[in-house]
Amino acid sequence: QQPSLMVSSTPSSPPVILSQDELKKIAAYKAVEFVESGMVVGLGTGSTAKHAVARIGELLKLGKLKNIVGIPTSTITHEQAVSLGIPLSDLNTHSILDLAIDGADEVDREMNLVKGRGGSLLREKMVEAACKKFIVIVDESKLVSHLGGSGLAMPVEIVPFCWEFTLKRLEMLFIEAGCVGKLRRTVGGVPYVTDNGNYIIDLYFKSDMGDLKAASDAILRLAGVVEHGMFLDMATTVIVAGKLGVSVTNK
Ligand code: 5RP
Repeated sequence: QQPSLMVSSTPSSPPVILSQDELKKIAAYKAVEFVESGMVVGLGTGSTAKHAVARIGELLKLGKLKNIVGIPTSTITHEQAVSLGIPLSDLNTHSILDLAIDGADEVDREMNLVKGRGGSLLREKMVEAACKKFIVIVDESKLVSHLGGSGLAMPVEIVPFCWEFTLKRLEMLFIEAGCVGKLRRTVGGVPYVTDNGNYIIDLYFKSDMGDLKAASDAILRLAGVVEHGMFLDMATTVIVAGKLGVSVTNK
């Protein structure tokens, strides 16, 4: 659990202390206000998105939302949605979605994202690329000036075949940025396997990875790479919950 953050209140009343999870919930609930009956909705993955999925389930149960079709971005979200009775479908049946709601690991000033520290980047990218509106929900700790500059991982999903070779090729691409790649492993030490049967290499940068579009293209050109966690120019709305309340920014 991250340290609590303080949310402003009226000058005369004491400040309200909210945990990071409560901030995530505030952002998620705000995003669900954009969901209307009859919509096809992409359901994101992670501790922030799970609040949005729960809220959609709750509103369906209360009859305040009707005829929603959810498109889950991971098996874990699929399971959560099933447990809540949210009707589900997939991209084969619904190739255009009205909107998607999902969290992010980093958000820069241009609304570019790093996603996938939870491991679901490929399905998230497929679903969110098919949306008319993609709402990103974060607490303010996710805001960064440069993607990959936080010292935290930029995930890349790769095929398991000769993963060490692919890891080295990825590091070589960003040798000037001091890039170090690590195979993601479970607590038991075995390789983490995605919903798609692939591995994840987490890339760590000592300095800026440079032009994001060029970095994205270079990664995707490597044979063995399936997808990466940079979501460039995809978000249409970013909802941030933080000390000063909640903000909604549209592109
Ligand atoms: C999962 C993701 C998540 O959206 C991202 O990791 C944010 O997670 P959280 O809301 O738990 O902070 O991309 O693959």
